[in-house]
Amino acid sequence: MTKSKRKAVAVIIVGMMVMAWTFSVEAAQPAEKSKMTSPYEMEIKPLTTAECGQCHFSIFQNIKQEGARHQIDCIRCHTQYHVYNPRKQNYDQIMPECISCHVSTNGGPFHGKNESLTPCLVCHSDPHKPLSIPMSEIEASCALCHTKEGNEIKNYPSKHTSDVSCADCHAEKHGYIPECSACHDSHSPKAELTTADCMVCHPVHKPTSISYDVEKTSSTVCAGCHGVAHDLLQKKETGHTYVKCSKCHPSHKEIPPCSRCHGEPHTKTMLMDTTKCGDCHGIAHDLSK
Ligand code: HEC
Ligand code: HEC
Ligand code: HEC
Ligand code: HEC
Ligand code: HEC
Ligand code: HEC
Ligand code: HEC
Ligand code: HEC
Ligand code: HEC
Ligand code: HEC
Ligand code: HEC
Ligand code: HEC
Repeated sequence: MTKSKRKAVAVIIVGMMVMAWTFSVEAAQPAEKSKMTSPYEMEIKPLTTAECGQCHFSIFQNIKQEGARHQIDCIRCHTQYHVYNPRKQNYDQIMPECISCHVSTNGGPFHGKNESLTPCLVCHSDPHKPLSIPMSEIEASCALCHTKEGNEIKNYPSKHTSDVSCADCHAEKHGYIPECSACHDSHSPKAELTTADCMVCHPVHKPTSISYDVEKTSSTVCAGCHGVAHDLLQKKETGHTYVKCSKCHPSHKEIPPCSRCHGEPHTKTMLMDTTKCGDCHGIAHDLSK
């Protein structure tokens, strides 16, 4: 493009812009006039949750951090708001009702009819943090909701029934699971035992119903209380030294007959009385006679 041609094009573009501006001013004038006359032309949109949050900042933060499954729009619960009138004393009437969204399967109160399980706000003290439940309000009611565990503790009386309460173990906050070591030293410190290991032998809600895995249970655990038996087995190497305690004693305190593993090792004439193996072989832990 030559210099003069470029100049001509520039002039045309500027001219067109001036014309467009002139027309747009003319076209806009009537509309702007009507906007000025009525401020009510604008469409009012419902407040968004974020907008509620601009004024109710702490509530917004609570729901954001601890609202759990209550992270829904404010107006789904607050179908009406800003209608409290001190003269009408209508606070309770205008607040959302739990029952409008939560009923039990038969249509009654959510957790059942028992009066300790109502009203909802006693335990769910802040609907904006529905799972923040004060322990003091539920201490007495655990077994009403957890009937399985409640019955287990009642039907298998132990010191966990008489000496501790549900809330002594499940302390601090609802759902907390304790470690055994919070209250017990291990009776078998040479064996490394986690809480889960303890519970293999002691189901925690019926701790005296002891059972254990015959294959996996370490003899070191038994040795914590039966040092004599353990040491005797180790002292002299016999065929029994490497047999696990639990293999011979598959349940606690059970004494096995020798025949369980050895059948009938001798001829009938040699062995008159099957209870007398020990007369010649000593005891199972020793076999040194
Ligand atoms: C799951 C239902 C639910 C949701 C969601 C919810 N609220 Fe509430 N809100 C309630 C209930 C129920 C009460 C009444 C509590 C009471 O009576 O102690 C309440 C009370 C209030 C109050 C008055 C009491 C106070 O704590 O100051 C305000 C303000 C409020 N909500 C604002 C909000 C805002 C803002 C949102 C959204 C950011 C929101 N709510 C979301 C159920 C809800
Ligand atoms: C411009 C600020 C502002 C906005 C936006 C706002 N609120 Fe409020 N709200 C207030 C004030 C101020 C009060 C009275 C003081 C108080 O209770 O905190 C109030 C009170 C309330 C109350 C209790 C009293 C009543 O009459 O209901 C509820 C519930 C409530 N607001 C819910 C909401 C919800 C839900 C939203 C969004 C849909 C919202 N507010 C938006 C300022 C606001
Ligand atoms: C507008 C409906 C609505 C109202 C009103 C309402 N909730 Fe909820 N709530 C819900 C929804 C939705 C969930 C999520 C449930 C689901 O996914 O099944 C929920 C869940 C819960 C949870 C479990 C929270 C979690 O994360 O596990 C609790 C507790 C709860 N609500 C208590 C209450 C209490 C108490 C009230 C009355 C103060 C109430 N709700 C009022 C709708 C509501
Ligand atoms: C005695 C205390 C107590 C009362 C009263 C109570 N709740 Fe609960 N609620 C709890 C506890 C504890 C949970 C378990 C919370 C958790 O999962 O950590 C719970 C859980 C819930 C859940 C969630 C259930 C689920 O399976 O996820 C809802 C919904 C609920 N409650 C609604 C209500 C309603 C509605 C009322 C009133 C009728 C009410 N609660 C009264 C203590 C209570
Ligand atoms: C109003 C009914 C209610 C009351 C009262 C209640 N709980 Fe719960 N609890 C529940 C619900 C609902 C759950 C959640 C169940 C689920 O997830 O299967 C739960 C869960 C638990 C869990 C399991 C947590 C996990 O990680 O699996 C423990 C432990 C527990 N509750 C102990 C208690 C103890 C202890 C008390 C008394 C101090 C108590 N609860 C009172 C309803 C209740
Ligand atoms: C000596 C401490 C102790 C006492 C007392 C106790 N619990 Fe537990 N509870 C535990 C431990 C530990 C677990 C974890 C069990 C597991 O992981 O198998 C547990 C688990 C639970 C669970 C969850 C069950 C599951 O399958 O996840 C519930 C519910 C429960 N306990 C309720 C109760 C109730 C109700 C009481 C009183 C009647 C109670 N507990 C008394 C220690 C205790
Ligand atoms: C909150 C403290 C507490 C916790 C946690 C606890 N216990 Fe206990 N337990 C006790 C008390 C108190 C006794 C009675 C005194 C004693 O024997 O030490 C007891 C007794 C026992 C007994 C003997 C029961 C009887 O009737 O003779 C066994 C077994 C037991 N606990 C196992 C466990 C196991 C396993 C765990 C972990 C899963 C555990 N305990 C967690 C407090 C607790
Ligand atoms: C291999 C099974 C086994 C394991 C694992 C085990 N125990 Fe024991 N526990 C027993 C036996 C057996 C007794 C004695 C029962 C009796 O006196 O009849 C016992 C007794 C107890 C007693 C009653 C008081 C005492 O010391 O005699 C407590 C408390 C106890 N165990 C806690 C625990 C704890 C805590 C753990 C985990 C660190 C644990 N146990 C692991 C088998 C086991
Ligand atoms: C759980 C199974 C089991 C039981 C029960 C059992 N034994 Fe044994 N016994 C063994 C094993 C395994 C050996 C070594 C391998 C073999 O010789 O068969 C053994 C070896 C022996 C031997 C050979 C000597 C040696 O040092 O190897 C004698 C003797 C013996 N047992 C006697 C007895 C007597 C007596 C009883 C009853 C008091 C008994 N056993 C109970 C498993 C068992
Ligand atoms: C916490 C300590 C403890 C632990 C761990 C323990 N026991 Fe015992 N055991 C005892 C007590 C207490 C008795 C009862 C003693 C009595 O009656 O004189 C006993 C009795 C026995 C008896 C019966 C004794 C007889 O005279 O009839 C056998 C067998 C036995 N235990 C084997 C085991 C085995 C195998 C293990 C490991 C799986 C084990 N024990 C773990 C404490 C324990
Ligand atoms: C009268 C003494 C006597 C009695 C009673 C006796 N045994 Fe023996 N037993 C022996 C002698 C001797 C041997 C061979 C010793 C050797 O080979 O070291 C033997 C060997 C054994 C062996 C090892 C066999 C092998 O092949 O190595 C076993 C296992 C055994 N006896 C088990 C038993 C059992 C189980 C009983 C009870 C039912 C029993 N004995 C009763 C004297 C006896
Ligand atoms: C080969 C099988 C066998 C093995 C392995 C074995 N026992 Fe025994 N245990 C017996 C028999 C059989 C008796 C009865 C006494 C006898 O006739 O020898 C007994 C008796 C006992 C007794 C009661 C008498 C006493 O000595 O205190 C205890 C406790 C015991 N065993 C614990 C243990 C422990 C702990 C272990 C592992 C360290 C263990 N046993 C390993 C077979 C066995």
